[in-house]
Amino acid sequence: MTANAAGDSILIVDFGSQVTQLIARRVREAGVYCEIVPFQSASAALDRLAPKGIILSGSPAGVPEENSPRAPQALFDSGLPILGICYGQQVMSHQLGGTVEAGGQDGERGGEFGRAFLTVTEPCALFDGLWQVGERHQVWMSHGDKVTAFAPGFRIVATSDGAPFAVIADEARHYYGTQFHPEVVHTPDGARLLANFVHRVCGVTGDWSMAGYREAKVAEIREAVGDGKVICGLSGGVDSSVAAILIHEAIGSQLTCVLVDHGLLRLNEREQVESLFRDHYNIPLVVVDAEERFMAGLAGVTDPEAKRKFIGGEFIAVFEEQAAKLGGADFLAQGTLYPDVIESVSFTGGPSATIKSHHNVGGLPERMNMKLVEPLRELFKDEVRVLGKELGLDEQFVGRHPFPGPGLAIRIPGEVTKERCDILRKADAVYLDEIRNAGLYDAIWQAFAVLLPVRTVGVMGDARTYDSVCALRAVTSVDGMTADVYPFDAAFLSRCATRIINEVAGINRVVYDYTSKPPGTIEWE
Ligand code: XMP
Repeated sequence: MTANAAGDSILIVDFGSQVTQLIARRVREAGVYCEIVPFQSASAALDRLAPKGIILSGSPAGVPEENSPRAPQALFDSGLPILGICYGQQVMSHQLGGTVEAGGQDGERGGEFGRAFLTVTEPCALFDGLWQVGERHQVWMSHGDKVTAFAPGFRIVATSDGAPFAVIADEARHYYGTQFHPEVVHTPDGARLLANFVHRVCGVTGDWSMAGYREAKVAEIREAVGDGKVICGLSGGVDSSVAAILIHEAIGSQLTCVLVDHGLLRLNEREQVESLFRDHYNIPLVVVDAEERFMAGLAGVTDPEAKRKFIGGEFIAVFEEQAAKLGGADFLAQGTLYPDVIESVSFTGGPSATIKSHHNVGGLPERMNMKLVEPLRELFKDEVRVLGKELGLDEQFVGRHPFPGPGLAIRIPGEVTKERCDILRKADAVYLDEIRNAGLYDAIWQAFAVLLPVRTVGVMGDARTYDSVCALRAVTSVDGMTADVYPFDAAFLSRCATRIINEVAGINRVVYDYTSKPPGTIEWE
């Protein structure tokens, strides 16, 4: 996205903090477009984006440490307002002539972590309409080192016991630094402080909206695609559907959607997608019935990674065949989201451990020699939902829980068969029906049933049963990276268990999964 299409923007320079994405969330909530870039590419981003202000993030590194990252000089030469948060404050102070020292004794990393209270000592543009001199306010600190002498031009505007330089300001240059994290919810006024920075200090109006994004993206897609052909793989999920509808708005029948029915979809999912695309939007859709070949390939496969690899590979094979039948395409559309795009900043240089090989259509563009169209690349999940509504999708559809690419296969530990998929589909539908009836669907990030490769003895009527166990899972989460168990009450869980056992042949016992993530993952495989 170009700066023009987005309007005025803010550049967020990432030094590797765990919470950098939250800065972007808060800035966007203030109605301002922003992008996160690793510190190494901040200079180039400055030219490309032409932002109206810069935010320097926190970091796991410490300024006094050897080889810790620095902000490119171009940021300070740009004349733009800068807000440094935590490490951002320290690195800015250090580079502009101040002193940063390790927080602990004898040079050890010590520091201050968690809730703290600061006192406002002087007025400052960040506090306008919000904090008055003499007031105390709760903030969230998480730092080892601290600024011990500020750079020329700065003054202290708020102070706390652990961080005498809790907020510093050089109003002439529009430079500000906070030792605390305004982006986290534990700093109750943090979002408003950030809004003050982007609106009052940087002068950005805050009119970035989904309607504007839609219009800009449609123009951008038209220009990029020209009279080329685009193919889009649908999963039944929100992201690929919203991407397809937006692209269709831009280029109409130059887009063809393909839904690969691998037999691992949820109950009625295929029919729902068909009706949405064909009847509601009139978007060309090819549904490939590939259940048999997926089931044949999964026969005897029990290892979770082997399942994932097979499904990913087979999906690509089916998709390629369809593309060839359609006479090829110049572009592949994907519903890639912003969290997948943000480059992570690594200080160790090593790759992080692979917990699961996630299946999406990665690998397809190179193999098929296609260019990518990814109209959601700049959006967070909940922003995609807003865009979906903007495009006319109903509330129920855009609010759907995430569903993994390998589908039900990773919810059937052990061998996957059509029979077991059918059993799971029914149990899952009953469980979700109960959740909807209880009005809990939107309070839960993801809920689903799992069919275990364990049989237990039961008694129904006067007869002995020997059937499978079904586990129910429901979690709350912000981004799927961590998750908490949803605390259903016992009556609700009993109702689900009774209905599933009564209505789904093949299941005679139901258990509830009480594992958070970490240590568990959300899916079972
Ligand atoms: P885990 O199980 O890793 O899941 O805690 C985190 C989130 O990712 C989803 N998930 C996937 N999504 N392809 C996807 O598109 C996959 O291979 C895949 N595996 C897990 C999962 O449903 C949860 O929302």
